[in-house]
Amino acid sequence: MPDSTSVTTTASGLTVTPTGETLGATISGIDLGRPLDDRAFATILRALGRHGVLRFPKQRLDAVQQMAFSARFGSLEINVAGAYQEPGHPEVMILSNIVENGKPIGARDAGQDWHTDMSYSATIAFANVLYALKVPQREGKPLGGTEFANMRAAYADLPAELKTRLAGMTVLHDFNKFWEMMRRRPGSWRKPMTAEQRRQKPPVSHPIFLNHPITGEKVLYANPGYAIRINELPEKESEETLEFLFAHQLQPKFRYLHRWSEGDLLLWDDIGTLHNAQADYGPDEPRLIKRCQVMADRIFDPGFVRAALAAA
Ligand code: SIN
Repeated sequence: MPDSTSVTTTASGLTVTPTGETLGATISGIDLGRPLDDRAFATILRALGRHGVLRFPKQRLDAVQQMAFSARFGSLEINVAGAYQEPGHPEVMILSNIVENGKPIGARDAGQDWHTDMSYSATIAFANVLYALKVPQREGKPLGGTEFANMRAAYADLPAELKTRLAGMTVLHDFNKFWEMMRRRPGSWRKPMTAEQRRQKPPVSHPIFLNHPITGEKVLYANPGYAIRINELPEKESEETLEFLFAHQLQPKFRYLHRWSEGDLLLWDDIGTLHNAQADYGPDEPRLIKRCQVMADRIFDPGFVRAALAAA
């Protein structure tokens, strides 16, 4: 296991500075507005596997540049809700509480509870790429942070008996679970999903433990936002086991809070982490973030990872 607090300057000229916490590193010495060469990509991919959440400070990006960087990691998703997309670039979704001319410019409650993006999809997400344009501030302190939980550490810390018992089992993930949870909050803009939308997003199953495609380590892949059932267990045992796993994976020792600065681009691994967007700011404290979601359609190809890492 590498020293999680060391600073590394790589052959690609990037400096990787771990937070020293369970997740997170800052990568400096790169302008993400320029095409990413193979050595830099290798450094970033390796650091993503190791640290889970990578911050690239002081970036100046337009939507096309954000998409170009994100697309190095896999295909970009177009959000099922079909709203709050960057004009001409539906792959870039706008997350914001800003209202202009009486209309919200972005999704104002995206991700405001613990979840893993796209675990409800047959092809899961590999990574999220968020770019902060406005960060709410109060008394000089940033609000609206994004908190993460480390699912590699959560797996490693499971009781051995549970690891053995659950090995080979699968979990059912349902998009509607998180949607309904958010919809029931006071003032929600969300309408119940129509039968057609539900038909388009049927629940899907994934292994409860995944081998991480970059590091090969096992991760716990079940999250309170979307996981509804362990398929191989009787209903009551499934409920109790999921409750145990949800409490286990959110222990403070597995958590890391990213406090945003304007110009931060944050790249995180969705396979090995959960996240939660903190809703601790008010309507007059503007937050504006642009998001690309990268699908895991290339990262599980060992040839892709091997070739990418070989360029370091
Ligand atoms: C998300 O869940 O993708 C949104 C996270 C955030 O806005 O901090």
